[in-house]
Amino acid sequence: ATNRTFTMIKPDATGANNVGAITKMIEEAGFRIIAMKKTALSKELAGKFYAIHKERPFYNDLCAYMSSGAIVPMILEKDNAVEDFRKLIGATDPAKAAPGTIRNLFAKSIEANAIHGSDSDENAAIEGAFFFSQFEQF
Ligand code: CMP
Repeated sequence: ATNRTFTMIKPDATGANNVGAITKMIEEAGFRIIAMKKTALSKELAGKFYAIHKERPFYNDLCAYMSSGAIVPMILEKDNAVEDFRKLIGATDPAKAAPGTIRNLFAKSIEANAIHGSDSDENAAIEGAFFFSQFEQF
């Protein structure tokens, strides 16, 4: 069925001027952009977004990194969106990401890994609503 996922191009990729190249791959893979903007997170907001990882050893570094530059959050629509998008971006660790995936091509490290993709329909809805109101979704 057609459904939605949430993604965010991360500071390493916006800093490297790869927003266009990554967005092109997303559209060419059949995803429709329902909402998109360029913005930035404070450390506090990054902490809220990643609250699920609060107890992880990498949490503080992750929040510092995610607030270090611009991000491009998007809501995307496609058949089987969550699963297909996670295939398109590849594994969290770019060293393990399959050839041709977005992280294989653009990520710098396991932390600065170019892009986020929701891991479930439920989290996609929560994460999309974190950035976009109903009036920003087309
Ligand atoms: P993401 O899939 O957006 O969600 C959690 C993020 O934490 C992940 O991408 C990475 O940016 C970061 N992350 C996950 N695992 C590690 C790790 N072992 N070390 C550092 N950062 C990590």
